[in-house]
Amino acid sequence: MEVRVGQEREDEGVAPSVMLEGVRWCDVLLSLLTEPVDRALLAANPALRGVANCAVGFNNIDVAGATALGLPVSNTPDVLTDTTADLTWALLLAAARRIPEAQEYMKAGRYKLWGPNLLLGADVSPGGSGRRKVLGVVGFGRIGAAVARRAIGFDMDVIAYDPHARAQIDASGIARWAELDDLLERSDFVTLHPLLTRETHHLINERTLKRMKPTAILVNVSRGPVVDEAALVRALQERWIAGAALDVFEHEPAMAEGLRECENAVLVPHIASASADTRDKMATMAAENALAHLHGKRAPNAVNAEVYSSDAYRARISRFPTER
Ligand code: GLV
Repeated sequence: MEVRVGQEREDEGVAPSVMLEGVRWCDVLLSLLTEPVDRALLAANPALRGVANCAVGFNNIDVAGATALGLPVSNTPDVLTDTTADLTWALLLAAARRIPEAQEYMKAGRYKLWGPNLLLGADVSPGGSGRRKVLGVVGFGRIGAAVARRAIGFDMDVIAYDPHARAQIDASGIARWAELDDLLERSDFVTLHPLLTRETHHLINERTLKRMKPTAILVNVSRGPVVDEAALVRALQERWIAGAALDVFEHEPAMAEGLRECENAVLVPHIASASADTRDKMATMAAENALAHLHGKRAPNAVNAEVYSSDAYRARISRFPTER
């Protein structure tokens, strides 16, 4: 088997021309979330057997287009659930307790004298307020539910909104259902975990940000375009909300103007699943899915499993040579 790597430099994605050339050459495409894979690209090689995305999210791939062309698409779910939920909490705590600001303060040598009002933050547990804080979870899939479970240790009340998972929320025993606006109005912390779809694009925008409490903190580890980032910058500058912690950005790796200057924003470069063990497992899963695509077998993590019973798929695999 021959493997070609399209990315030449660590700080640059794969150029569209290199992608096209690569897709024309290969039997299976193993993509990263940074690579847009549209229908025209997939149609460039009638002998292509499948796409293995090395990520749980697959909004970079035109899955409907792939299905229409008879191409299975796979992702790497489950293995990154805990790692991503942990990072969500790391961000939430960092924003609430102002850890990055405190670290900068130390590293700049500004710590001369302890004072009772130094870098005051917000409690996550009831703390001095004695009030159970409310965590609002938007998107109650595997990761949203794992984030909600971790809130038990902080004595929080958890409310959740996900129009596709109302039954799971009701049955969870951890979270109670809330409509989006209600959730935004009641939550001390709002954490975003939906898939990026047309429905969730800019779900958090000027209107919805203005629903949040001025003391609330927004955490996003899902996909950048779920938040209207320019509106968020205004919200942070004008203190419609107290803070935000972001792992993902609307036009990643770029950031909306003014975001990096907001001292009430904690910003990290899309590292939610970045533990050594998890990334290792994701790579292995993507390779296993790729091999299944290659051998015309059902991929363990196909996101469009319905493709296997389609005429387009049957027509495609009938063109595979039996041995390569
Ligand atoms: C990371 O963002 C992923 O979707 O795996």
